[in-house]
Amino acid sequence: MVSRIHLGHVFHLAGAPLVTDAANALVSIPDGALVIGDDGRIAFCGERAGIPSQYQSAPTSDHRPGYLLPGFVDTHVHFPQTYAGDSYGGGQLLEWLTLCIYPSESRFADENVAAQAAIEFCNRRIAAGTTAAMVFGSAFPHAQDALFTETQRRGLRIVSGRGIQTTGPAAAARLFTSEEDAIRLTREEIDKWHAADTGDVKSARLHVAIVPRFSLAVTTQTLKGLGELYDSVRDRGVYFHTHLNENNRPGTGEVDATKERYQVNSYLDTYDGKFLPGSAVGGSSLLGRRSIMAHSVHCQDVELERMAETGTSISHCPISQQFLGSGTMPWLRTVASGVNISAGTDFGGGDEWLIPQVIGAAFKVHISEPGAAGVSMHPAEMLFIGTLGGARALDMEDRFGNFDVGKEADFVVIDPSRTPALQAALTYGARSDDAVMARDQTLFALLMGIRETSIAETYVQGRRLQ
Ligand code: GUN
Ligand code: ZN
Repeated sequence: MVSRIHLGHVFHLAGAPLVTDAANALVSIPDGALVIGDDGRIAFCGERAGIPSQYQSAPTSDHRPGYLLPGFVDTHVHFPQTYAGDSYGGGQLLEWLTLCIYPSESRFADENVAAQAAIEFCNRRIAAGTTAAMVFGSAFPHAQDALFTETQRRGLRIVSGRGIQTTGPAAAARLFTSEEDAIRLTREEIDKWHAADTGDVKSARLHVAIVPRFSLAVTTQTLKGLGELYDSVRDRGVYFHTHLNENNRPGTGEVDATKERYQVNSYLDTYDGKFLPGSAVGGSSLLGRRSIMAHSVHCQDVELERMAETGTSISHCPISQQFLGSGTMPWLRTVASGVNISAGTDFGGGDEWLIPQVIGAAFKVHISEPGAAGVSMHPAEMLFIGTLGGARALDMEDRFGNFDVGKEADFVVIDPSRTPALQAALTYGARSDDAVMARDQTLFALLMGIRETSIAETYVQGRRLQ
């Protein structure tokens, strides 16, 4: 690859801020330039006028008056629900799973359906500018093979694992395996696909996660077996991913059903090795800096503290919360715990592929929280959960998530002219006389107004994806 200059208005969060410090880390360079080195890394990020002399003659892609943002990171999206967005089930989480999702996911038993879905899934990701993702996988190994193969062919990053289910309602029967197969198939997926593209976890774009659907879909025996498996592969950089505290409808919702079934003090305990009655230890913990808990809407303080302490991240999915009536993750309380927060579409629990729409929804739901909990997220915080916080959740912040020199060049080109409403807002919207406020207003208008049409080009490691 030869070095290349990309011109446009650059926005990113420099360094390694916490979400609470995102505003101070926000960098806006209206007449900006990114120089991508021949190694696919950021060689320079700054003013166009300041491009170092050794790069000045490099070929140039002039995206002005477009914008250059870090690639979006979706830390919770369901591959076998590629065709299941907007499913009508007439109920919240557990009814929707039974009536809509288990039947949809069962269709992936057909190799042709799975292969077609892998293509569509990658199409949607590239169109949405989602350069990296934690992908909740299909139960069927052939579907996961199709997903990894197509993802590699298209040049995207992925962390994924087959969805593990050993128990549940009859509607999910085709997704179940025996206890032995649950562990065996997961181990085989790790051996087959983890860092399979480069052979080195540090340079790989393909990674594998251990993914039990949620505690209600497995047994204490499964959790014990997965704990042992995770202990044996942690040092290979394998991930863990699942759902936590999503639906708290009294009595019949997911949270109560889990605590009732396991007789534990907290839902998180079931993933923390403490899955026996009274939260007694029954196996190894699945938490850690490569573990992501989707939703985490209804957490107790002890659960948030334990996630923060172990380096476990949350995938915040406000569009899914709206679609499934799951409530609102308390923003201030969650942030105050110190846990890292990233953003997830949860497609098809959410009905949007776009991370900018997810962070726009986050703004709307958190300003609507009751009383003093209702806050206006700073646009830099929105950008954080959609980019750098996601890279941190994937434990690859040293590789991508912003435009610090030396990072792998994952970015999107936003062309507002392809989305008239966005173009109009950016061109004619009133801006403060205060330069910092005007900058924040422009970033906010951009993040709220991006649609799939606005995303003109998507790059991973400096390579344009098609
Ligand atoms: N909990 C268990 N399975 C699922 C799922 O597929 N989607 C969501 N949103 N929550 C879940
Ligand atoms: Zn989900």
